[in-house]
Amino acid sequence: MSIINEGSVKLRISKIGKISKEMDVFYNPVMSFNRDISVLLLNSVNKKSMQVADPLAASGVRSIRFLRELNTRENKIKKIYINDYNKSSTKSIKNNLALNKIQYKKNSRLVISNLDANIFLLSSSGFDYIDIDPFGTPNPFLDAACKRISRDGILAATATDTSALCGTYPKACLRKYWAMPKRGAIMHEIGLRILIRKIQLVAAQYDKALIPMISYSKEHYMRVFLKNEKGKSKVDYVLKQHGCFDNAGPMWLGNLLDKNLCNQIYKNSLKNKIFKNNKELINFLKILKEESKINAVGFYDLNDISSKYKIRKLQKKDKLMEKIKKLGYQSSETHFKGEGIRSDISLKELIRILKN
Ligand SMILES: C[S@@+](CC[C@H](N)C(=O)[O-])C[C@H]1O[C@@H](n2cnc3c(N)ncnc32)[C@H](O)[C@@H]1O
Repeated sequence: MSIINEGSVKLRISKIGKISKEMDVFYNPVMSFNRDISVLLLNSVNKKSMQVADPLAASGVRSIRFLRELNTRENKIKKIYINDYNKSSTKSIKNNLALNKIQYKKNSRLVISNLDANIFLLSSSGFDYIDIDPFGTPNPFLDAACKRISRDGILAATATDTSALCGTYPKACLRKYWAMPKRGAIMHEIGLRILIRKIQLVAAQYDKALIPMISYSKEHYMRVFLKNEKGKSKVDYVLKQHGCFDNAGPMWLGNLLDKNLCNQIYKNSLKNKIFKNNKELINFLKILKEESKINAVGFYDLNDISSKYKIRKLQKKDKLMEKIKKLGYQSSETHFKGEGIRSDISLKELIRILKN
């Protein structure tokens, strides 16, 4: 066992060897980034007194960070439910709460359980925030999560089965996500949009419209935060934005990022002592903020374009984006790929600039 720090909390975890689901209690330090963004998002939305569910909690790190890092003056959490079906997890959650001096026995804000996640969700009366953070696909938990997410609630989900979503195994994607992926420069964006549509379809059955607030792809995983807007006409609006792009799909063709929220999260990260020195996170959030302003599905991969259209010398990305903006188009970097730019300029026009 060793004690490590993540965000503002301490954790007692088994010595980190190979990260796998065979660990007695799962903990992946790489996912601290995922948890950082969850904390920032919940601190940036106008929601108070939330009922929070962490159905697949493992070491409890996410919930403990929520308890410690969500704005207490704003009374963000009314009650938090920490669950995992693994008995060792329950023990670890209790140890880690104690390590962070959080009372759990007589704490009316805290419930710890040891149930199957679907039973845990379905036996509840509903939550304002549900965080589905599974091994692989979130599929097995989507139905119960969609049923139990409250009006205006936020459903967060992680998917680590990127090989299906990004087209290594197209048949698996068809079976699991009811859509055709595509290998290539924009495969992560296509995969993310396919994942969003799948979750939206599950929710649509219950007249719930799930609108993306923040969705991104990073390393081995994809992450979405969707706001539940109840009502048949809103669901119809969501379904109308499903379609194909670049011979892949169907997928969500609407916005991946809420502009105002991205702006707020970025601002808050700069003010927060836990995050402000985390260059990787700050840079990522800055790109999301810029990317959220562009209304375009897909992006241009400059390396791809230069080899396909025989462009001998590639211009610097910043200069190129300036030129695009001067012509009256929108343009930004994209978090999906270093060599990518998101823009509403046409390919023909972009090639013309690149060849000049
Ligand atoms: C990827 S880990 C969760 C990581 C954790 N959320 C974090 O931020 O560190 C997935 C967890 O889900 C638990 N799990 C898997 N299937 C489950 C189920 N059907 N019901 C409840 N827990 C489950 C596993 O025991 C494991 O601890």
